[in-house]
Amino acid sequence: MRMVDVIEKKRNGGVLSKEEIHYFVEGYTEGTIPDYQASALMMAVYFRGMTAEETGTLTEAMVQSGDVIDLSSIHGHKVDKHSTGGVGDKISFITGPLVAAAGVPVAKMSGRGLGHTGGTIDKLESIAGFNVEMSKEAFTASVNEHKLAVAGQTGNLAPADKKLYSLRDVTATVDSIPLIAGSIMSKKLASGADSIVLDVKTGSGAFMKSLEDSRALAEEMVRIGDHVGRETLAVISDMNQPLGHEIGNANEIREAAAVLSGENIPDLRKLSLELAVHMTLQAGAYSSEEEARRDLEASLDDGRAFQAFRTFVQAQGGDVSMIDDLSLLPRADHEIAIPAEHAGWVQEIDAASVGTAAMYLGAGRATKDDEIDHGVGITLKKKIGDYVEAGETLAVLTAASAAHPDAEEKLRGAYTIGASRQDVPELIHDIIRA
Ligand code: URA
Repeated sequence: MRMVDVIEKKRNGGVLSKEEIHYFVEGYTEGTIPDYQASALMMAVYFRGMTAEETGTLTEAMVQSGDVIDLSSIHGHKVDKHSTGGVGDKISFITGPLVAAAGVPVAKMSGRGLGHTGGTIDKLESIAGFNVEMSKEAFTASVNEHKLAVAGQTGNLAPADKKLYSLRDVTATVDSIPLIAGSIMSKKLASGADSIVLDVKTGSGAFMKSLEDSRALAEEMVRIGDHVGRETLAVISDMNQPLGHEIGNANEIREAAAVLSGENIPDLRKLSLELAVHMTLQAGAYSSEEEARRDLEASLDDGRAFQAFRTFVQAQGGDVSMIDDLSLLPRADHEIAIPAEHAGWVQEIDAASVGTAAMYLGAGRATKDDEIDHGVGITLKKKIGDYVEAGETLAVLTAASAAHPDAEEKLRGAYTIGASRQDVPELIHDIIRA
């Protein structure tokens, strides 16, 4: 087989065979197929698409390119949750403890952040002492005992995806539905959970800007999961503005802990509950959606979810005094208010710009070797649908210096303020099942 023929076939709109897809994935992972040929194929797929069968084969081949984690020594039905990436997305810190408090094991592998979205592990490391480097035995034991553990992603999970994703990032081939579906699902399937709930973001701050594309992506991923016998469900949720009010590492832990203590921050509470309902139902923890919703809401209000979070933090070496007293979490010294230039209604908050402003402050990484500052971040005082007077504060930057012109400018530019009141976008747009 020759790679040039595989590229030409896809370029001309053909359907690749199983053998051709495996030949490409294996050759590219081993290094016998060079970047320039892989780039050409990715671009051909970008324009020509893939059938459901091709996408399924691509996913399988990427799973087989590395280790597949065996979670069979963890008792019970293991559920996993994955978000396609959002700004201010601290939902995992709420759903994890909520689901664990319902007795359902959550064994989560997570990554660090790059670019405008933050990483789960970076956020957890704002808690002093929190450790994600665990042996397989310690990870398994922790999930069996506490129902929740988060470990750093091991090096060899779907290495083909790792290599291809870096290539797609610099060849303008990220936003292709079959390629995103294969990329996400290969990592999820290799992580070994019995079932998966996906939070597929839609809107200006998401990979998929339109509801139609987000639905197509969700359907593709659900189909892949179903095909390999792992129940998969997708919630399509809004990313036309950041989630909640806090962006940044310690900022997001503080806000998640508030929701876990029963505070009603409406979008965070609603989306966390929705995802937790589906995760616990997949595991058979409740007999109906109504029962699940009622008990999970009670868990937020009566302290069970918070207690599960506290136990999880302690089990992973984190300083629980920071959870008991959230003011002990790192917080940079300076606050910079961003005032509204004129009066009006907040019509848009571009999530990607808010994420980039947080990255400029030091909350995220521009390159993978950058150091994170856990104590810097952004608090949104106004969100879509709110009215502001001229000079009133839209948002506050918590920064390491008294002025931060690039972050200030980016955040100011994220807001669109107009003369008419905009409806607040629906938070949950759709649920996609097999
Ligand atoms: N996240 C991934 O892991 N892969 C993609 O292709 C896009 C988002």
